[in-house]
Amino acid sequence: MPAVRSFLLLAATALLSSAASAHPHDSHDHDHAVTRALPSRWYHPEDHPATGLFRRADVPNDGVTYAAVGSPEWSAGYPPDKVDSQPLPEAWTDALAAAIKAGKIPDFPPSQNVPGSNPVYPNGLDPNGDVVCSATEKCRNPGDIWDAPDGVFASSFDDGPTEFSPALYDFLQTNNVITTHFMIGKNILSWPASFLQAFEDLKSDIAVHTWTHPYMTTLTNEEVLGELGWTMQLIHNSTGGRIPKYWRPPYGDSDNRVRAIAKEVFGLTTVIWNQDTEDWSVGTPGGATRPAVDANLQKWITGPKSPGLVILEHELSNDTVGAFMQAFPLIQQNGWKFESLATMDGGDVYQNAASSTEDVTPGLIGVAASAPASSGSSASQSGSATGSSASTSSTSAPAGNNSGKSANGTSSASGSSTAANGQATGAAADTNGAASLFASGLVVGVSALVAAAILL
Ligand SMILES: *[C@@H]1O[C@H](CO)[C@@H](O)[C@H](O)[C@H]1NC(C)=O
Ligand SMILES: *[C@@H]1O[C@H](CO)[C@@H](O)[C@H](O)[C@H]1NC(C)=O
Ligand SMILES: *[C@@H]1O[C@H](CO)[C@@H](O)[C@H](O)[C@H]1NC(C)=O
Ligand SMILES: *[C@@H]1O[C@H](CO)[C@@H](O)[C@H](O)[C@H]1NC(C)=O
Repeated sequence: MPAVRSFLLLAATALLSSAASAHPHDSHDHDHAVTRALPSRWYHPEDHPATGLFRRADVPNDGVTYAAVGSPEWSAGYPPDKVDSQPLPEAWTDALAAAIKAGKIPDFPPSQNVPGSNPVYPNGLDPNGDVVCSATEKCRNPGDIWDAPDGVFASSFDDGPTEFSPALYDFLQTNNVITTHFMIGKNILSWPASFLQAFEDLKSDIAVHTWTHPYMTTLTNEEVLGELGWTMQLIHNSTGGRIPKYWRPPYGDSDNRVRAIAKEVFGLTTVIWNQDTEDWSVGTPGGATRPAVDANLQKWITGPKSPGLVILEHELSNDTVGAFMQAFPLIQQNGWKFESLATMDGGDVYQNAASSTEDVTPGLIGVAASAPASSGSSASQSGSATGSSASTSSTSAPAGNNSGKSANGTSSASGSSTAANGQATGAAADTNGAASLFASGLVVGVSALVAAAILL
């Protein structure tokens, strides 16, 4: 691959909080938060025949009444474009403040988005060192998911919904399998019918891919809150109250600060990948060719079973979807166990529900994770409510362990009586987390660098 990729500056870029730049390793440069103005009346009325196609499926919810997905009321409460265009809910900022106070959020500045290179950290900070541990540099924080269990093809797709999603969803439905969709918040607003097809018809697993698809390590703590929080809120309000458990950083760009905010404020587990088809680059200048993508998929699927495969794939174009559909028969032929990434190892798919079809424990976004681990009760409540083996956990997904605390002392967000009781705000969690190693107390060393990155 060429060292420098062309920028893909779509019209939408102006609305995004950062522009794509080129990365020498595992380049993943694509802007594709789909930005479309909604016509004044763009949804079908209840008696329209098409409404029947996207009827509310019979999935359990948390008992709360939410605005119908696709309605003006449903889309009204979210940032129209950049996440700093509207105030953050106090619950999230309080939870961040509590996590910082508890020493759980590493205190180092955001990276700067430098065209032609990976994000660069100021003050000579080593992106591969213990403090930063940048996933872009392939530094593996042990709490993150990179691999699947041996023999498992852990399937996931980024960037949906898009206009190419229905073909993928139809294919998955025909083949009677589900996957994990790391969805872009703004794209859910743009393609509500496809969102419903994924969640209600296919009953696939819904996860977070941020609101506008930025390089997350270039953002301030507050912008990270917005990118994750609004996407979680929209998924929560569109799935009968389910709280997402997994997120994947766009471009795989995460570090110890970003992952700590995801974990401590929102209870999210960070997911990267161990193979990149570069499917996203087909059709871009200097990008991969479709035959090269097909050849890579074939090589990995016919290759070693250890570790299991976590392949980066996208709902982004006819080619990204087509490459998967073409390779799909090979997966079973070669003896892989095909599983949605979020369900591998039998863990829960959501923080407060075992799956898209099982019971939901009421919970709020951004309060459960940083609440004090009075967890015995909330965990068991969650377990019994879902009526499932909610406490089964995997080594790769510590958040799924509902015993309340992981070995690192992070509370495992299990859905939450605490959240429902509203105890979370201002509560300082215990301080023996790994993050405290880095903490020096004060937040937000946010600099002009970030502002510059945002304006790119
Ligand atoms: C989410 O749903 C709740 C319950 O209906 C509602 O109060 C809240 O305003 C919704 N949030 C957004 C951002 O629409
Ligand atoms: C989409 O991809 C398929 C092969 O995967 C191809 O047959 C078809 O022509 C493509 N359609 C468009 C519009 O490019
Ligand atoms: C969950 O974590 C706790 C504390 O680390 C541990 O004692 C327990 O065995 C774990 N449970 C499962 C099912 O992994
Ligand atoms: C968290 O705890 C697990 C299990 O003890 C350990 O393997 C891992 O390295 C810890 N993670 C961090 C970030 O300290």
